[in-house]
Amino acid sequence: MRAVIATEPGAPEVLTITDLPDVEAGPGEVVLDVAAAGLNRADLLQRQGFYPPPPGASDVIGMECSGTVAAVGAGVEGWQVGDLACALLAGGGYAERVAVPAGQLMPLPDGVDLVTAAALPEVAATVWSNVFMVAGLQPRETLLVHGGAGGIGSFAIQLAHRLGAKVVTTGGTADKLAACTALGADVTVNYREEDFVAAVREATDGAGADVVLDNMGAAYLDRNIDALATEGRLVIIGMQGGTKAELDINKLLRKRGAVIATNLRGRPTEEKSAICASVVEHVWPLVAEGLVQPIVHGTFPLADARAAHELMESGEHTGKILLTV
Ligand SMILES: NC(=O)c1ccc[n+]([C@@H]2O[C@H](COP(=O)([O-])OP(=O)(O)OC[C@H]3O[C@@H](n4cnc5c(N)ncnc54)[C@H](OP(=O)(O)O)[C@@H]3O)[C@@H](O)[C@H]2O)c1
Repeated sequence: MRAVIATEPGAPEVLTITDLPDVEAGPGEVVLDVAAAGLNRADLLQRQGFYPPPPGASDVIGMECSGTVAAVGAGVEGWQVGDLACALLAGGGYAERVAVPAGQLMPLPDGVDLVTAAALPEVAATVWSNVFMVAGLQPRETLLVHGGAGGIGSFAIQLAHRLGAKVVTTGGTADKLAACTALGADVTVNYREEDFVAAVREATDGAGADVVLDNMGAAYLDRNIDALATEGRLVIIGMQGGTKAELDINKLLRKRGAVIATNLRGRPTEEKSAICASVVEHVWPLVAEGLVQPIVHGTFPLADARAAHELMESGEHTGKILLTV
């Protein structure tokens, strides 16, 4: 099968398309003929050598895809050759074929075409598991989501808005903030020019955000705690602003706040399968109704993975970037 590999850690130029041995469906696995693979920010880190795949996972980059079931391994129930699906992967998405634990396979939401479905698994699983399953965002609570125009952010805005929360979001340009407003953000903040803590307080009559979904890590830790409401929950899912910061425990304690950091990729298959099942139950109906939409910035052929990585590194995209096979 053809697959994109990084010949060595480095810039997008190290990505090259090559022939690899075909994958097989092990016990409990399904093999997909990949139609499209979604890009994720972590793919850039993996290409640079900073984010190795978890033990046992494919070395090939790619944490989500859509495709057609080509083979079904021993013990798998509910999937047949020819079924269409999208999948959360530990790796292997930038390829013509990938083997997936059956629990991480999801049917396409009604009305979503096969290629577009590749834009959904990571954002849906990450946003649903962190904002709703872990942080328990409730209707009429306020969510602060950083980077609202990114893949994760654009999905988080829509889901929180549709489930009845107030949404404050940050972004880097007026165009991106306008896109966030169109997706349902109530308040937008240009992180280059404005103070998001002040904006959150103003939007909540001084109370603060009940949940913060953070992609910046260290750079925003202190300000995110300032932005939290009493009993607020800060969920850190990214480290774009570094990994080490000082935590003012007194500030957090007085708010009876929680700081949670999670990652999806390294979790056991059983946990990822439970998240996928919950996504299918709670999120897919909203997608099927068109209330929450996959936002695709653009698609590139698999062989142009370099150009797709360059675009993501430029930060000019809004929503997801896909590779088509
Ligand atoms: N832990 C997990 O399980 C998990 C899973 C998936 C993703 N993630 C993380 O989630 C983050 C988003 O991933 P993605 O795939 O959606 O990437 P993406 O589409 O490239 O989005 C990156 C976002 O970062 C924003 N950003 C850049 N500088 C910022 C700043 N100073 N303040 C606020 N926002 C800033 C960008 O905003 P502008 O474009 O407006 O500049 C953009 O919206 C990444 O850090 C990724 O590693 C974590």
